[in-house]
Amino acid sequence: MITSQTGSLGLLGHPVGHSKSPEMMNAALKAMEMPYIYLAYDVSPDELKQAVEGMKALKFRGWNVTIPHKVAIIPHLDELDDSAREIGAVNTVVYHQGRWIGHNTDGAGYLRSLTEEIDIRLSEQRVVLLGAGGAARAVGYALATAGAEKITIANRTVEKAEQLAEHLSRWTRTAAVSITDSKTAVEEATLVVNTTSVGMYPCTEESPIPADWLHEGHIVSDLVYRPRQTAFLIAGQEKGAQIHTGLGMLIHQAAIALELWMGKPAPIPLMKQVLEIS
Ligand code: ATR
Repeated sequence: MITSQTGSLGLLGHPVGHSKSPEMMNAALKAMEMPYIYLAYDVSPDELKQAVEGMKALKFRGWNVTIPHKVAIIPHLDELDDSAREIGAVNTVVYHQGRWIGHNTDGAGYLRSLTEEIDIRLSEQRVVLLGAGGAARAVGYALATAGAEKITIANRTVEKAEQLAEHLSRWTRTAAVSITDSKTAVEEATLVVNTTSVGMYPCTEESPIPADWLHEGHIVSDLVYRPRQTAFLIAGQEKGAQIHTGLGMLIHQAAIALELWMGKPAPIPLMKQVLEIS
């Protein structure tokens, strides 16, 4: 029941009309018995400052941030945690002791999902990250700080791959390569992660790399979750690789945000169920 005591949470993005987060978050909050409501707010870039000021004045507990505001929100916050600072983007804002703090739960969400679904020793992983954008920065930071043996960034624009490889070299061995020249790196890898949008609905036939670069020794992981089974994952499956879909990251990044706001564990199975039926 919504009362005068109900607190506010939400999602800031543009567009947000397609988002399943309100269904997932409100179901989770109800199960957690937390008196909060979570709504999606469509805010254009030129309205961001006003929207953030409004949310602060209305004493939101916090909110999620999505495209295109993940970097632009930073000047409006008082502080960033390590993850947001190193990734250079914020997906969760938390009000804590009078300060608005930016977090990034994408990388930690990815890692939780991967280790929950796959029996994996992170310290033995030679990783190829396909892509060098914001999602690659989050996943790369999480894998590097979790102790991955080596991370190779394979990107269409090789300069961006080099920049990310340089950044991640603080924590692990790295390399950078053009995605079209990444066949050897992919073949020698144990974990291949697609962080590009290639294969996302409606371009469901596309794979970021040729199917015959994959083999049964791989863990093939895709951040794309619409469709669940991308052409890239199907190619891996046909080669006998282990498959990790993007749905888990979506759930776990949200669960970590809930835990930051509410201080208690989120109901992961329920959140998964809501996403699967929506
Ligand atoms: P996100 O925040 O989702 O990571 P982004 O920062 O825009 O989004 O990054 C998109 C990534 O997908 C980039 O690595 C991009 O490659 P470029 O750096 O060369 O632009 C990659 N990407 C997008 N479309 C692609 C395509 N058709 N083929 C290969 N890579 C693609």
